[in-house]
Amino acid sequence: MPEKKPFIIGISGKGGVGKTTIASLMVRCLIRQGIRPVLAVDADPNANLHEALGIEVTGTLGSMREEAFTKAIPPGMSRTEYIHYRFRQVLVESEGFDLIAMGRPEGQGCYCFANDLLTQAMQSLQREYPVIIIDNEAGMEHLARGTIGLPDILVIVTDPGARGMRTADRIMQIGREIGMSEERMLRIVNRAPENYAVPDWVYATIPLDPLVEEAEMKGDPVSLVPRESLAAVSACTIIRDVFHENQEQA
Ligand SMILES: Nc1ncnc2c1ncn2[C@@H]1O[C@H](COP(=O)(O)OP(=O)(O)OP(=O)(O)O)[C@@H](O)[C@H]1O
Ligand SMILES: [Mg+2]
Repeated sequence: MPEKKPFIIGISGKGGVGKTTIASLMVRCLIRQGIRPVLAVDADPNANLHEALGIEVTGTLGSMREEAFTKAIPPGMSRTEYIHYRFRQVLVESEGFDLIAMGRPEGQGCYCFANDLLTQAMQSLQREYPVIIIDNEAGMEHLARGTIGLPDILVIVTDPGARGMRTADRIMQIGREIGMSEERMLRIVNRAPENYAVPDWVYATIPLDPLVEEAEMKGDPVSLVPRESLAAVSACTIIRDVFHENQEQA
């Protein structure tokens, strides 16, 4: 079990730009590179990272938190113990990675006690992984709340269009406000056309990938495209560079 703090990579960006696709491809790359187990965190309330990875989820932290307050607790268990126990149950274990879905950030009542316990449970869980990939929703709710903690690297995905770029700028601003430094925020243009003139503020591009489109059409898990596929190769290069740069600095 690694003693070091995990390397946390958050993936953010406008709706539909490819966050989940890229997050899932990065999880597969890390496993192939022997950097495992990976903790994949689905921080989007409309959880679908599991589909991209080809696994099932049984619950989310959000639903569990509500239930921990409304349901009867098994005899002999305190509420704290119950929350920790259920926390472990919503963690899905798979080959080379585990996945946890955050679900909805807040129910109607005040769940401050449960939130504190969840943050605690999340922090103790994090120590078990060398790397964590967080697929964020289009906003930055969980990041801003600190349930997960500040990522070491924030990957900001955009499409080549002007609107995606503007959202990327806004995310950079939120990133600064929560204490991320400029060099830890990487802008990535996804679905870049072949003749795309890469602006100098772009860290890397990921091309439009027909095999990803085909997997999507068939309803296959997108992260299981062949490793030579265009998007997989680019996602792997990004994650390898980012991870190794970090190791050298550590
Ligand atoms: N490089 C790519 N080449 C081809 N298709 C892609 C690529 N990246 C993403 N897609 C497709 O774009 C669509 C949106 O991708 P994805 O679901 O990953 O975006 P998202 O940012 O997670 O969306 P949301 O904001 O809804 O969570 C999907 O159909 C996906 O298959
Ligand atoms: Mg998504």
